Order: sequence, then structure tokens, then C-alpha cells
Amino acid sequence: MKIAAKLMVLGAILAGGIAFAEGAKDPDVKARQELMEANGGAMKTLGDMASGKEAFDAAKAEAAKKQLVDDAAGIAAAWKNNATDPASHSKPEIWTAWDDFVAKAGDLGKAAAALDTTSKDTIGAGLGAIGGTCKACHTAYKAS
Ligand code: HEC
Repeated sequence: MKIAAKLMVLGAILAGGIAFAEGAKDPDVKARQELMEANGGAMKTLGDMASGKEAFDAAKAEAAKKQLVDDAAGIAAAWKNNATDPASHSKPEIWTAWDDFVAKAGDLGKAAAALDTTSKDTIGAGLGAIGGTCKACHTAYKAS
């Protein structure tokens, strides 16, 4: 897939996520949705740099990468207690297939850690792999 096409797929993932971001009252559900919002923000920063919409900034790119790595490491703790809320989009399968859910968080962590933030092109080359891990988990565990 060309980078432009990958970025479009990514845009669709992000737009879909942000469209129903409002309304959770349970503090744990809110916190895990905020963690995901931060993922979305970091991916937007990196995507905008890769596409040239935003100027390449090495420090900003590195910060976004770190955000993704840290978010991935925080997923298990953020979902552990099976908090529920009518505005949650977490599928119950998360807690019956817990090891797989945590493994998918690990996949995001690995893909983010492998991102080369040297230039807009290296970022573009690594974004598809990261976006794939977002999508894999959302397909299995996020209700639309
Ligand atoms: C290990 C699983 C997993 C991974 C990996 C994952 N997500 Fe999520 N994501 C979820 C789940 C589950 C929800 C639903 C949260 C809820 O509403 O309880 C969610 C929700 C979201 C939301 C909506 C948040 C809100 O406010 O309702 C966004 C945006 C999002 N994810 C972006 C991303 C991006 C971008 C990535 C990759 C960088 C990513 N996610 C990786 C599981 C994951």
C-alpha cells in the first residue's frame, strides 16, 4: 500500500474513534477513553508530519512515539477492573480473552517502539504497522 493510502486508512480509524468519544461517567471508563484519545492525538501528529500537513519536528515526533509506547504499556492496567458505562465501546470479550487483549496492546507497544522518527519519510514508512495494531484490537474488542 502506498503511504498516502495508509494515511487515509489511518484517518478513517481516527475519525471513527473520535466521533463517539463523549459521555462516559465512570471514572475508569473515562480514563481508558482518554488514554485512547491520546493514542489518537499521537497518531494524528505523526500522520500529519508524514503527509507534510505539519512540518517535521524531531522532538515532537519522538514525544508522539513515546506517548504511543507509554499508552500501550498502560492498557492492561486501564482495562483490568472491567469498569462499565453506557458510553463505553469496550466489548465484554476483552475480559474473557484477556491474554489476547493484552497481547494486542503489546503489539502496539512493539510497533510504536520500532518507529524510526528520523524523518517524515521514515515516520510514514512505520505508521502503517502501528495503525494495523490499532485496527486489530478495535476489530476484536471495540464496539462501533
Ligand atoms: C489492545 C487493544 C487496543 C489497541 C491496541 C488500541 N485500541 Fe483504541 N480502543 C480500544 C478499546 C477497547 C476502545 C473502547 C474504549 C471504551 O469506550 O471503553 C478503544 C477506543 C479508542 C478511541 C475512542 C476513545 C473514546 O474517547 O471513546 C480512539 C480514538 C482509539 N481507540 C484510538 C486508538 C489508536 C489510534 C490506536 C493505535 C495507536 C489504538 N486505539 C489502539 C482498544 C484498543
